[in-house]
Amino acid sequence: MGNKLIIPNRIVTVDPDNKILRNYAVEIACGKIQKIAPVNEFEKFDGEILRYPNYTLIPGFIQTHIHLCQTLFRGFADDLELLDWLQKRIFPFENSHTKNSLRASARLGINDLITGGTTTFLDMGTLRHQEIIFEELISSGLRAFAGNCMMDQNELYPAFRETTDWNLKSTYDWAKSFHGTNDGKVKFGFAPRFVLSCSEKLLIETKEMMKDFPGSLFHTHSSENKTEVETVRKMTGKENVEYFDSIGILDSHTVLAHCIHLNETELKTLKKNSVRVSHCPSSNLKLGSGIADIPRYIKEKISVSLGADGAPCNNSLSVFSEMRHAALIQKPIHGPTAMDSLTVFRLATIEGAKALHIENQVGSIEVGKNADLVLFDLEKADQPLMLDNDNVYSSIVYSASKENVKIVMTDGNIIVNDGRSLIYDEKEIVETGKKELNRILKQIAN
Ligand code: GUN
Ligand code: FE
Repeated sequence: MGNKLIIPNRIVTVDPDNKILRNYAVEIACGKIQKIAPVNEFEKFDGEILRYPNYTLIPGFIQTHIHLCQTLFRGFADDLELLDWLQKRIFPFENSHTKNSLRASARLGINDLITGGTTTFLDMGTLRHQEIIFEELISSGLRAFAGNCMMDQNELYPAFRETTDWNLKSTYDWAKSFHGTNDGKVKFGFAPRFVLSCSEKLLIETKEMMKDFPGSLFHTHSSENKTEVETVRKMTGKENVEYFDSIGILDSHTVLAHCIHLNETELKTLKKNSVRVSHCPSSNLKLGSGIADIPRYIKEKISVSLGADGAPCNNSLSVFSEMRHAALIQKPIHGPTAMDSLTVFRLATIEGAKALHIENQVGSIEVGKNADLVLFDLEKADQPLMLDNDNVYSSIVYSASKENVKIVMTDGNIIVNDGRSLIYDEKEIVETGKKELNRILKQIAN
């Protein structure tokens, strides 16, 4: 494969100096960024030249908490708080997944993510059929961490769980089959769902199992909802994060989604153990869960990145919704200077990469990194977000939507062109999604 040269209007590098480059080009060789230099240094370039004089080039977005398995259920679980949302809707829905419906859900989710410029994410699967999600991640060529959602207890909806041994054995088998596949682009994220659905044995043995899979992650929900936190306290005598700490779960390979209701000790514990917090602001608002004190976490140098969570709790997988909410919800509390657009943009890019320990591969436009890139049109006539100023972070965080995403590449290969997916037949995945959703709705009604 020959080298490619991209010549955009500007390059938002997200490097340590947050450089924005004009009249520069990016050369890609073997899927990696080979050279970034002024356009006139490429006069003798003889590979493919891609000229985008009106587009802004940024690194692909990274989301650190997604549930592909829930995409089918968007709009079917509104206006409920977390435990009701799970008990009345999400557990029955996920429990009804077949391989076909899970595939349909994963395809719609991946399609939604990539057309919105997300090129890497951490997914929490569902209890069963995890191989389907891995198959879709592998065939789409994305960089992702994923794992089955482990549950060996479930008071809210007892039909939706499996035995501890079943959970441990199937998880091990899936990790063995899929960790490090697709040239290491697909990795395993062990995913015990949350304390309320996992025995202590399951949590501890899962953490132990990770030793066989270097580079894997431990991914769970924590401290999302006040009733959840009270129930954890009743079950364990501890706060959620204190409990995880007491059984040895927490380290830099642990990603905790939400982390809204924390006390000072828990905050110190997160910091001491370099735990990664995945902030899901729009889900936290829609489920009425609360507002995480993200400015404080950032001040304490706790790793914070962004995730859209599942489609039925926000109801969008758009990173733009997460960035905008991450910024806006803090301003009435901390004042308008809190969570400025550059800070938020970094959470959705390089901080996501650091959270997943892949910052040497993605998260910024720097030589040696993989060419996972997004080209934006910020000058659309019907929505001119930016008329030639360099405050591109403002335009993208406060104003942009997926309509501005024109081209998406992973490893230098175009997977979204003019806003349309080249991976899936979009009409077909919508039709199949409808059919599978209807099957599940009928099954639940009976
Ligand atoms: N806690 C346990 N399961 C879930 C889930 O599927 N979504 C959210 N937002 N929180 C959870
Ligand atoms: Fe979640």
